[in-house]
Amino acid sequence: MKDIDTRHLSWDDWDELRRPAPETTDFDKVVAAAMSRRGFMTGVLAFGSAATALNLMGSTSAQAQSASRFAFQPIDIQTDFTVHVPEGYDWGVLVSWGDPLFSDAAPWDPTNGGDAATADRVFGENTDGMELFEVDGKQIIAVNHEYVNEDINLPAAAGESASIVDSAEDAMKLMNLQGVTVMEVAETDTGWGVVVDSPFNRRITNNTPMTLTGPAAGHALLQTTADPAGTTVLGTLNNCGAGKTLWGTYLTCEENFNGYFGATDATTTMPNGFDRYGIGAESRYAYEQFDPRFDITKEPNEANRFGYIVEIDPADPDSTPIKRTALGRFKHENAAMTLTADNRVVVYLGDDERGEFLYRYVSNGTYTEGGDTSTLLDDGTLYVAKFEADGSGQWLALTPETTGMDDLAMVCIHTRQAASAVGATTMDRPEWVAVSTTLPEAYCCLTNNSKRAEDAVNAGGDAMLAADGTPNPRAGNEYGQIVRWRPTDTDHGADTFSWDLYVMAGNPDVHDDAYAGSPNVTSGNMFNSPDGMVVDSNGMIWIQTDGDDSNEGEFAGMGNNQMLVGDPETGEIARFLTGPNGSEVTGLTWSSDKKTAFVGIQHPGGDFPNASPVPRSSVVWVRRQDGAVIG
Ligand code: FEO
Ligand code: CA
Ligand code: CA
Repeated sequence: MKDIDTRHLSWDDWDELRRPAPETTDFDKVVAAAMSRRGFMTGVLAFGSAATALNLMGSTSAQAQSASRFAFQPIDIQTDFTVHVPEGYDWGVLVSWGDPLFSDAAPWDPTNGGDAATADRVFGENTDGMELFEVDGKQIIAVNHEYVNEDINLPAAAGESASIVDSAEDAMKLMNLQGVTVMEVAETDTGWGVVVDSPFNRRITNNTPMTLTGPAAGHALLQTTADPAGTTVLGTLNNCGAGKTLWGTYLTCEENFNGYFGATDATTTMPNGFDRYGIGAESRYAYEQFDPRFDITKEPNEANRFGYIVEIDPADPDSTPIKRTALGRFKHENAAMTLTADNRVVVYLGDDERGEFLYRYVSNGTYTEGGDTSTLLDDGTLYVAKFEADGSGQWLALTPETTGMDDLAMVCIHTRQAASAVGATTMDRPEWVAVSTTLPEAYCCLTNNSKRAEDAVNAGGDAMLAADGTPNPRAGNEYGQIVRWRPTDTDHGADTFSWDLYVMAGNPDVHDDAYAGSPNVTSGNMFNSPDGMVVDSNGMIWIQTDGDDSNEGEFAGMGNNQMLVGDPETGEIARFLTGPNGSEVTGLTWSSDKKTAFVGIQHPGGDFPNASPVPRSSVVWVRRQDGAVIG
């Protein structure tokens, strides 16, 4: 690993390099069913109109998919370094990495990646999940900054190594460019922009104080030198997807937190459970060299204080963010909230790593509009999904009794191990979960899993078989799929459900087997690696991709990463937006009047946006030229 420049690896690839997937012994092997495209249709689109979807087979142009529920003409793939939207729509830049949120911050400077002294007063790097809130008639967006690119934030100064963290100041700059931005935005004649110096503007960073609540708060494994009570933690790490509560707060999700911790003494014995989470002696940004709390040698419990869902009140810039340990500790992708039939709170959650799991939290208390919501995310039960090949499934409760763990705190700290103990289904990297706004169903993007195979296991040793009739049917799955489930009796509180696949992504130009994808994938709409996902007010599924944008080989004809819209009733999928080459399209929210969509463009390449000397992660706005609503 030392001989490889790891700075440009995705977090997934970085994890894989440090911790190659182990292999199972022969007795774990099960021969997968023979694969055929027809065979894979069992269970695919069972809820939708298969006839409609099948009519799309053989369609070769994007335009052929235009249908009444799509208020746009689908666009073709692109391979350039800008954003494309359908005819009749406009887009522009809302905000880019380094733009000041306050007038006392220096303007972004491409020669130094922005001013280190005011890095916590500007829009951070690598925009990801976001939500819009209307507060006192103002439009407030809370948005995540997932990680940073050292080489563009840390240009080499005299006497320094280029583009790596080699000082406490470098580490602090990176810490301040990550986390969350809360900002007021407003529409102007020419588009949308940030309201600089708005009293709502706020940066939450890797160092912002926050409170731990729920079963794990105060547990011995969460106690540190600086916080012997185990209830106050500094910062939130690797904020990926997002969610919104019914009571108007923001949920930010700590994903690849493992990579922020290292050991200054390489011989340090790793604490129990660290391996399952990929926490090891080598870190990604070398924080441990300059801040002892990231040094496992000195503070072995600090890493146990990350990997949670964090609740933020965007209406109160002085509020303390809350880490809700009851929602479990894993590589949280996003959080999708709904209610049970008897008004208890449900939160669906994915753990984005190969062979990890899909979760559901159900509160004990009930939600009442305007009522006390302060403990609804502290007191409840966490469940994990088990999918059966007959199209049924169960939510398995994670309790001391079911897992054999000592107490609920251990379940909330070592959640992956708890889920393995009850026999959950290993999934192809659960990314965003979304609950339908019009149908009694929910969806999860399973982005890809190149390691799924007969002899593969996840980090906990659970088999990652590829078998027909499962939600993860393909070995060497480079394309991904979206699983859909319907709770029994339309009650998201039910412990059983039925499921199918809404779509299996694939390439019908290259393959004629299961890797061609499901029938609703055509030459005109193909894509790989579904990741971000939001359901709009009409029940349409907006799908964002984070995959291979080489447009070659297995991915020929897919172009840049993109955003598509899917109709869950017909199975149809149409391409709405393409991102610049090199970028991932991630994060989607709307203005209160639904006339503007805000879309995140993370780690673009080239000169995005607007001939920038260094490509800048940005949030863009999209509007219809006729001023009508979008979704
Ligand atoms: Fe941050 Fe799994 O995407
Ligand atoms: Ca993602
Ligand atoms: Ca991804």
